Amino acid sequence: MGIKSVIVAGGVIGFLAACTDNPNETKLQYFPDMADSPAFKTQGNYINPPEGSIARTAILYPDTPEESEKVLQNPFRGQPGEEKHLAEGKHLFETFCTVCHGAAGKGDGSIVDKFARPPDLTQDLYKKKQDGFFFHRITFGSALMPSYGHAISANERWKITSYVRHLQNGEPPPAPPAEQGQQAEPTKDESKAVPDALNAAAPRSEPVPQKQEVR
Ligand code: HEC
Repeated sequence: MGIKSVIVAGGVIGFLAACTDNPNETKLQYFPDMADSPAFKTQGNYINPPEGSIARTAILYPDTPEESEKVLQNPFRGQPGEEKHLAEGKHLFETFCTVCHGAAGKGDGSIVDKFARPPDLTQDLYKKKQDGFFFHRITFGSALMPSYGHAISANERWKITSYVRHLQNGEPPPAPPAEQGQQAEPTKDESKAVPDALNAAAPRSEPVPQKQEVR
């Protein structure tokens, strides 16, 4: 028997072995992931979701600050525990914003010698803005300002917003939080204020035309 016949015979046996009448028997697959993987084009999308699909983990926010002003409401506004929220907002503002915006929001942070000077957040222009404007800017950033949607939770962004409003009123700094330096735990009153901890956006009365996605 020549070598060719051996190869052919081996192939036939292998082929027959792969075909079995018993549907309960697992067939032998060599590199199954290669055989079963869906082929997709280089640089192409792995999936092509139908129009209007939304990632299950996505949180949708209005596309523009103007739209945010209209449809988003600060869930902590006028809620019990305001002092505590403000103190947390202060801590967060000092962590994320002071370096550029300055402790009082005047745009005189320590970075300004080396970076574009941010605007004074206590000026009238910003006093007239709704809370949703600040929430949107913190979430998505601006021309030169970094976005913080990935790093600061929605609840924290609202607390920072409350603190910016506090600075705009020129009020004295709030009392430090009870557990200084600790990550703020959601409290009872807070969970009442924000039923869905992930999405602090207020319910919308009408659909928002354009949306941006934060994961
Ligand atoms: C790296 C520096 C930097 C940090 C950190 C920073 N900002 Fe800014 N921010 C800027 C600059 C610069 C501008 C103005 C230019 C621009 O719009 O990009 C600005 C603009 C803004 C505006 C006005 C936007 C507008 O459209 O007029 C708001 C509100 C604001 N920042 C809030 C915040 C808050 C709140 C934080 C903290 C969560 C923060 N920023 C952190 C640099 C920074």
